Amino acid sequence: MSEVPEPQEIRTVACVGAGVIGGGWVAHFLARGFRVRAWDPAPDAEEKLRRLVDGAWPALTELGLAEGASPESLVVLPTLAEAVEGAGFVQESAPEDLELKRTLLADIDAVTAPEVIIASSTSGFPMTDMATAAENPGRLVVGHPFNPPYLIPLVEVVGGEKTERWVVEQASAFYRHVGKSVITMDRELPGFIANRLQEALWREALHMVAEGEATVEQIDTAITDGPGLRWPVHGPCLTFHLAGGEGGMAHMLDHFGPSLERRGPG
Ligand SMILES: NC(=O)c1ccc[n+]([C@@H]2O[C@H](COP(=O)([O-])OP(=O)(O)OC[C@H]3O[C@@H](n4cnc5c(N)ncnc54)[C@H](O)[C@@H]3O)[C@@H](O)[C@H]2O)c1
Repeated sequence: MSEVPEPQEIRTVACVGAGVIGGGWVAHFLARGFRVRAWDPAPDAEEKLRRLVDGAWPALTELGLAEGASPESLVVLPTLAEAVEGAGFVQESAPEDLELKRTLLADIDAVTAPEVIIASSTSGFPMTDMATAAENPGRLVVGHPFNPPYLIPLVEVVGGEKTERWVVEQASAFYRHVGKSVITMDRELPGFIANRLQEALWREALHMVAEGEATVEQIDTAITDGPGLRWPVHGPCLTFHLAGGEGGMAHMLDHFGPSLERRGPG
């Protein structure tokens, strides 16, 4: 096996699957000055992909492009094997279908140079379940982005049972190098972290609507004009720490804990 490339040595990324998320990754990597090789089996994929990149480019330009960044650094290849040729990192963003991911990740693994990490954008499948058909599951890792990946910084990185530890570390380092905010998880968790939190809120919203406790409009306003304004600055834990005044989280829990317990679930 050739030497594993350091994140800063990688100049070319392969994007497999170029829809909403794959296209968003393509735009992000292009804006960071990478050469991007894409493959997607849909007949109109290239046209759609170039439209997505063109649509994103004004915002990316305003945010600041890396030196030499250009949409012309994108090449769309007719086969998977050609797309991964010479790539230093592979990002898979095919449809969320477990069987499809299993087969596709095994196919990518079969045609990609052995020292290259292969990351999946999956929104929720554990890599342990997706890696079962691949010959080299050690280099497969989840790199879960948020839509659109060229604007929302977060990527959650997590390996499967067979993913090698250095792959999780190296993928995290690569995403950081390309300007992402990275959470490196040390265990597989359904929904990872951010979706798990979003879904908890969403479940409560559905419950309140179903019970007639709040309207859809009230729920949206409750977030957009309330805690939603705080969340870009600090997350729920820091928010509640500040709500405790000088006593911080400890005072907050002493003060509100009993009433939270009384309210109970549901
Ligand atoms: N949409 C989101 O908000 C979001 C957010 C984070 C992660 N994801 C994940 O990203 C992945 C892609 O989702 P999306 O929203 O971009 O879907 P999408 O339907 O927009 O794009 C999927 C693309 O994959 C292509 N494709 C179909 N079969 C393929 C194959 N065998 N090999 C390669 N490509 C194939 C399709 O032609 C299409 O262009 C999924 O795993 C999804 O869970 C989505």
